[in-house]
Amino acid sequence: MLKKLLSVLPLLCGALVNAYGSPGACSGACWSHDPSVIQRVSDGTYYRFDTGSGIQITTASSLSGPWTIKGYVLPSGSSISVTGNTGSDLWAPDVHYVSGTYYLFYAVSSFGSQVSDIGVATSTTMDVGSWTDHGATGVASTTGKAYNAIDPNLIVVGSSYYLNFGSFWGDIYQVPVSSALGKPSSTSYQLAYNSTGTHAEEGSYMFYYSGYYYLLISSGICCGYDTSLPAAGQEYRIIMCRSTSATGSFVDKDGKACTAGGGSTLLKSHGVVYGPGGQGVFTDTSKGLVLYYHYADTNDGLADANYLFGWNAITWSSGWPVV
Ligand SMILES: *[C@@H]1O[C@H](CO)[C@@H](O)[C@H](O)[C@H]1NC(C)=O
Repeated sequence: MLKKLLSVLPLLCGALVNAYGSPGACSGACWSHDPSVIQRVSDGTYYRFDTGSGIQITTASSLSGPWTIKGYVLPSGSSISVTGNTGSDLWAPDVHYVSGTYYLFYAVSSFGSQVSDIGVATSTTMDVGSWTDHGATGVASTTGKAYNAIDPNLIVVGSSYYLNFGSFWGDIYQVPVSSALGKPSSTSYQLAYNSTGTHAEEGSYMFYYSGYYYLLISSGICCGYDTSLPAAGQEYRIIMCRSTSATGSFVDKDGKACTAGGGSTLLKSHGVVYGPGGQGVFTDTSKGLVLYYHYADTNDGLADANYLFGWNAITWSSGWPVV
């Protein structure tokens, strides 16, 4: 009996360690890439924004859908024009509500290039036709910089504002900004770095919960799984670090500095879910803190055009989020 128990114990432990919840239900327009989700304050409507031409606006009355495509934030693109991009293929939207206005950050770049610029648009309703493009924030990068200025993420700490950004090169950086419009007010510094391999960290998202700032990062390869499947474990997964400060000293569950390769797994490929990443967190009026992301369903296809919207309500274990 004991022998039998001992033999199944590793299996049980393995099952527990790998017990990630299936993505919450999604109906309607569920294609997604680097989603940003928020509930409109006035009526609770869910708004989802995704990477792509003009940044698609998709709305629903429930997180599970049915989601409906409404149109685009910037139908004719951004006023930012960087080499290799006309300014219409806008990446990694990041939306926040600050003092009555919705701020939507986006990046203009081209794949694998360090010539990148972060822009911002504002609206008081988020509806099609209501967005004003403010263009470049001034957070930008060119070849030779320590970082790549894409994947923006704003965090408001009291009366201070910070813009987190970064992808590969020096990985995740932060710059103090003067307001929710994201104009840099000081020099930038590194928040997280993986010196191994290609420094594959990007798409950061920071949120506050009960005494800590949590920094979520997409670690690994984001895209092109249908044409070039990464080695097992090298596809996107969501890792996490935390700190009592929003501006540095982020460590993982083992206390390893996230500027020195640290990062504990929050969500990775499991079952039919492949390469979850491009994540964010928002406070749902009924479900509390929710993690959302995109992923590929191995039954539906691994191409970028097949990515799906995923979400899970967050629970907590010893001060760390669990989904
Ligand atoms: C750092 O990069 C290596 C090589 O790609 C990868 O195997 C490892 O999981 C990464 N570490 C983290 C914390 O993501």
